[in-house]
Amino acid sequence: MALQWYPGHMNKAKNQVQDRLKLVDIVLEIVDARLPFSSRNPVLEQIIDQKKHIIILNKSDLADPKLTSDWKLSFEQEGIRSVELDAKHNKGLGKINDLIHSELADKIEKYENNGVKNYRIKAMCIGIPNVGKSTILNRIVGKNVAVTGNKPGVTKNQNWLKTKYDIDLLDTPGILWPKIDDPKVGMKLALSGAIKDKIYAPDDVAIYALNFLEAHYLERLQETYGLDKSDLFDHTTPELLMHLTEKLGYKEDYERASRRIIEDVRKLKLGRVTFDVPGEFYEE
Ligand code: G4P
Repeated sequence: MALQWYPGHMNKAKNQVQDRLKLVDIVLEIVDARLPFSSRNPVLEQIIDQKKHIIILNKSDLADPKLTSDWKLSFEQEGIRSVELDAKHNKGLGKINDLIHSELADKIEKYENNGVKNYRIKAMCIGIPNVGKSTILNRIVGKNVAVTGNKPGVTKNQNWLKTKYDIDLLDTPGILWPKIDDPKVGMKLALSGAIKDKIYAPDDVAIYALNFLEAHYLERLQETYGLDKSDLFDHTTPELLMHLTEKLGYKEDYERASRRIIEDVRKLKLGRVTFDVPGEFYEE
């Protein structure tokens, strides 16, 4: 789902998230593992305050494993612990449970020292559209869906979902908008499918993709499309798109070739690719 964000929407979303933050012990910030920078919203950092917070790198099945490790390290250096997840194939939930327990170890110890049994950890998922929040919610709740209902002192109409762990999850994830001040961030979000295809011209997105692939995944680009070294080094990126259009049999239909290249990236024809590189995304 892609959302059109206006200042009014943004404020409302921010206030809603802020309100519900008060109800939880820990925030699970969901990002797309292919875009650990571009799929975050810095507003969260501003409103999260002292709340415990972990990052879940979802869609890790689509991301470059080496860069996922690098990102985990980079977040760790910022003081945020993170964990990868493939919600689609249900891989990694146990690690999230472990990390939540480790982050809340002090609180859990207090419960135990005070003889509190059957305590429930309260958590909520937050993220921009399309990073997989609903999928995660469904996975983590599994078949044990049990709405615990409104409780005194809790925001009206706010339901908790019982998960298969000792964790209750707010039933509606917090949605934040992507921050697209930098046009490259917009291109990356478009390439990943996070924003509607009609918002950007496909040839702009394809040229962005080819440029990035030339810089970071040259061999894969060559292999996938059977390109010679001369195709790559003697051409500007728009010329490369023209060349590929012909090579793929689309004559002069650059738009069709662009859609094909975007689809190839999304469907892993070029392997698992991550479009944000730690430390590099500013000057890229
Ligand atoms: P949201 O609530 O944050 O907006 O995201 P949502 O769960 O709706 O997921 C958005 C898309 O991402 C869905 O695909 C979903 O299947 C896919 N997705 C979620 N988690 C993962 C993951 O770990 N790996 C992969 N590869 N995909 C994931 P869709 O195309 O919109 O629907 P569908 O193809 O599943 O029907």
